[in-house]
Amino acid sequence: MKNNITPTNKEISMRDGDLIVSKTDAKGRLTYCNQIFIEFSGYSEQELLGQQHNIVRHPDMPRSVFNLLWQTIKSGDEFFGYVKNISKDGSYYWVFANITPSYSTGAGAGAGAGEILGYFSVRRKPEPEKIKIIESVYKNMLTAEQQTGARDAITAGTKILTDMIEPTGKDYREFILSI
Ligand SMILES: Cc1cc2nc3c(=O)[nH]c(=O)nc-3n(C[C@H](O)[C@H](O)[C@H](O)COP(=O)(O)O)c2cc1C
Repeated sequence: MKNNITPTNKEISMRDGDLIVSKTDAKGRLTYCNQIFIEFSGYSEQELLGQQHNIVRHPDMPRSVFNLLWQTIKSGDEFFGYVKNISKDGSYYWVFANITPSYSTGAGAGAGAGEILGYFSVRRKPEPEKIKIIESVYKNMLTAEQQTGARDAITAGTKILTDMIEPTGKDYREFILSI
């Protein structure tokens, strides 16, 4: 589902100490948002709960970043990444996000132990110098995705990221935590 919001150039910045928190079910539908999530997204809690998390997806974000995000969390690992999000009024806000799977203990009816029940995400204010680096990488990734067309977009976008990280000898996680 697309949010169809027209982006504006207005930035809203997270403050030091702000934490934007959300929880989703296993399919990425919002089950919890904290007050700061509500403030930055511009929606009411009622408008948010039950919606797909792509309600705050900004069109400047490469698809291949979300592909990596989902691959990582579905396999049970935690994901770190910089994300440009869009508010209801078209403003944008950058976050540094950590997303982790939430597992069942096996205690609930019908839930097997170790099954992924949903995901939990905490975002904090990114450092502006890091945003500059990431913004230009994402621009290159987006361009590659658009030039290739939908079918090969993920491969093309991911290649830009991989080609940049590979010479450093790091993996994605080490790279993103080191910039
Ligand atoms: C816990 C959790 C948090 C997420 N946080 C964001 C977020 O802040 N911004 C965002 O655009 N997508 C976020 N996503 C990814 C979205 O589910 C979705 O994949 C993304 O917005 C791309 O949307 P699309 O697949 O419809 O293009 C999150 C997913 C999960 C499971």
